[in-house]
Amino acid sequence: MTAHPWTDPDRPIEQRVSALLEAMTLEEKVGQLHQVVNPDPIQDAAALAVGAFGSCIVASGAHAGNTRDAGTQAETVNALQRAAVETSRLGIPLLVARDVIHGHRTVFPIPLGQAASFDQDLVRQCARAAAREASADGVRWTFAPMVDVAQDPRWGRVAESWGEDAWLSAHLGAAAVEGLQGGPDGGRLADPESLAACAKHYVGYGLAQGGRDYAEVDVGPVTLHNRHLRPFAAAVDAGVATVMTAFHTLDGTPMTAHVGLVREHLKGRLGFAGVAVSDWDAVGELVQHGVAQDTRQAAALALRAGVDIDMVTGGYAAHLAGLVRDGSVPAELVDDAAARVLGLKLRLGLFDDPYTDPGRAAAVQLTPEHRALARRAAAAAIVLLRNDGVLPLAVGPDGARHLHVTGPFATARAELFGTWTLDGRPEDAVTIADAVRERFTDGATTVTVDDGRFLDETLIAARAADVVLACVGEHPMRSGEANSVTSIDLPPGQVETLEALARVSRRLVVVVLTGRPLALERLDHVGAALLLAFHPGVEAGHGIVDVLAGDVPPRGRLPVTLPRSTGQVPLHHDHLPTGRPLDPAGPVGRYRDHQDTPLHPFGFGAGYSEVVYGQVGLSSPTLEPGGTVQVSTRVANVGTRPAVETVQLYVRDEVARISRPVSELVAVRVVTLAPGQAQEVTFDLDARMLGYRDANGAECCEPGTFTVRVAPHAGGGTSASFELLGAAGGGAS
Ligand code: BGC
Repeated sequence: MTAHPWTDPDRPIEQRVSALLEAMTLEEKVGQLHQVVNPDPIQDAAALAVGAFGSCIVASGAHAGNTRDAGTQAETVNALQRAAVETSRLGIPLLVARDVIHGHRTVFPIPLGQAASFDQDLVRQCARAAAREASADGVRWTFAPMVDVAQDPRWGRVAESWGEDAWLSAHLGAAAVEGLQGGPDGGRLADPESLAACAKHYVGYGLAQGGRDYAEVDVGPVTLHNRHLRPFAAAVDAGVATVMTAFHTLDGTPMTAHVGLVREHLKGRLGFAGVAVSDWDAVGELVQHGVAQDTRQAAALALRAGVDIDMVTGGYAAHLAGLVRDGSVPAELVDDAAARVLGLKLRLGLFDDPYTDPGRAAAVQLTPEHRALARRAAAAAIVLLRNDGVLPLAVGPDGARHLHVTGPFATARAELFGTWTLDGRPEDAVTIADAVRERFTDGATTVTVDDGRFLDETLIAARAADVVLACVGEHPMRSGEANSVTSIDLPPGQVETLEALARVSRRLVVVVLTGRPLALERLDHVGAALLLAFHPGVEAGHGIVDVLAGDVPPRGRLPVTLPRSTGQVPLHHDHLPTGRPLDPAGPVGRYRDHQDTPLHPFGFGAGYSEVVYGQVGLSSPTLEPGGTVQVSTRVANVGTRPAVETVQLYVRDEVARISRPVSELVAVRVVTLAPGQAQEVTFDLDARMLGYRDANGAECCEPGTFTVRVAPHAGGGTSASFELLGAAGGGAS
C-alpha cells in the first residue's frame, strides 16, 4: 500500500479525512457516495480503479431481501479490496455492507422475539455474535438495528422491530448498536470483529398507513418526538455509525428528501456525526413520489436533505458532479458527505487493514457458544399465554408416555429463522420434532411426528397420544418487508385444525411461531396450553423444548399488545386518555361488535409459578426536580417452581400542558425467584424519566402529580402518586 498522509495511523482521524479531501477530485468524492450492489472484482475492475463507488451491498435484491443468496466470503471481499486499494489513485478501501439483521450463520430469534426477553444484555450479546460472524465473511457494515416503533401488526416489518413501545425500542436498539459496534459510545469499530451499525428507517416508518408497507405516514410532531424519534436519539447517543432514511413520505415529504428531519434534526439537533444512507433505490423513488422530475433532481434533493450515500440508484454517481459544477448543489455538501464516509472507513480501521482473514469464518461461525446463546435467546423469546397445568411436561412412568408432534413447524428448518436471514443454513437448524425426541424419548415415553399435511392421519395419531404438541403459525414470507396482511388471524385453516385436534386430545399444547402479534382469541379455549414463540432461529427446537420441559422457566413478555381482532388495530398500551374513559364495571366498550380491551396487554407473559406483587411504596411523597424518589414493591414467588419475573415500572403524568399517555413504561427489572422466595424491587425514579417533548421537540417536565405503577404487565400492578415540586429539565431518554 502506498504511504499517504491519510494512511498514517498515528494522525487523528479528522486530519486524515482533510488530507484525503484535499487530494480528491470531485468525481472521487462523489464515488464515495455511490453504493453499488454485488460488485465483481474482475467485471468492475475499471470502476474500482477510478474509485467510482465507495461502498457496496451484498444482496440478492429479490423479494425485498427475503431470499437467501450466495452471500459473501472473505476471499471475494479481499479481492474487491485489493482492487480498490491497489489499483486506484488514492487507495481508498471499500465499505462492504450486508443486511445482518438477527444473526448471521447463527440465526437468533427475530428482533420482535428478542424484544420479548426485555433483556438488553441478551440483545447486546446476540448482536455481538452476529458481528463476529459476519465480519469473518468480510462484511463491516450492517443495516441494523431497525428501531421503528411498530404499533400496527398488519405491517410485516413489525417482525424486525422491538415492538410497540418507545422506551423498549430505544433501550434494545441501543443495546444492539453496542453489540454490533463493540461497546457503548461508538464502540470499538476498529476491532475487525465489529460492524458499523445502522439505525433505520428514519423516521416514522412503523406508521405506514393501513399497515401497507411503503405507504404514506401522517403523524403529529408530539407523537413523532415522543415515540418515533426516541429510539433514533438513543441510537445516536449509543454512537451509532450510520442511519438509514426511510422509504415513505411523512406529511407529504419523502424522508429521502426531508431537510427538516434529516439535515436539521438528525444531523443538527441530535448531533449525529455519522453517515446517513438512503434506503434501497429510495433516491430514484423520489421520482415515483412525484417530488422530482428525474433522477438528477432527485439526487439534488436527497443530498440537500442530508442523505450521504445513495444506495443503488446511481443518481449521485450520474449527476452530483454536474450539479455541483453548474452551481445547483453546493460543493460543501459533497465534501461533508464524503468526509463522513471517509471518517467511518478510517474509524473501522479499513485504511490500516482492509483485508479479512479467510480462516476466521470457520473458527467463529456457529460455534458452540453461539449456538448456546441462540438456544438461550430462543427460550427467552417464548411467551407463555395460557397453561391449565399441562406444562411443564411430565413424561415417563408418572407422566405422558406418548407425545405426538404435529403442524407445519414440527419438522420445519429454514422457516424457523424468520424474515431477513440471508446466511442461516437450513441444515443447521434444530427442528422442534428432533428436540422433542432428544429430550423426551426414553424407555417409558415415545414420540411420534407428522407435519400435518393430512389431517385425518394427524387426528388418528393425536387420539393415540397422551400429549399433542401442535406447532403452527406464519411462514416467514408472510412477515417482513412488503409482506403486510389484512387479517392478523392465524393463516387460513389453522384454527380449524387446532379445534379438531382439541376434540380428540385432552392435552393439546399449541406453539405459535410468527413474525407478528396475532389475534389469538379463537384459541382462548382451544387446547390446554398456548405459547407464542415468534420465529426463534437456529436453536428453535431446543429453546422451545427447554421451556416445555420446564428446564428453563418461561420468561418472555409481550413486546406488543395482543389484540382480539384485526379490527382493533392499532392498539397499544401507551395511548392517550379519552375524554370519556371506559367504566371498567360498565358496558364492555365502544365497539358494537366486540370488546375494546386487548386479549393480552403489553408486557404480559405467564410463568410456571405464581408471582404476587405487593403494594407500591415511595421513599417520599414529593420529588425535588434534581432528586430521586425510590419506588419499590415486594415480588414473591408463591408457587413451587422457579420464576423469572420482568418487573415493569409505568408512569402517568396526571396533568400537563398536553394530554399524556395513560401509562408509559420507564424502567424494567428482571428478577429470578426461587420457589417461596420474595424480593424487594426498587427503582430510582428521577425527573428525567417523567418528561416529554413538546411539538417543537423541546424537553418539558412540569410540576404536579405523577402516578407510578409497578406491574407484571401494562394491565396490572398497584400504584401510588407523588408530587414533582418544580419544573425539571426532563425529557424522555
Ligand atoms: C429495506 C432495508 C434494507 C435495504 C437493503 C430495503 O428494501 O427497506 O431495510 O436494509 O433494503 O437491503
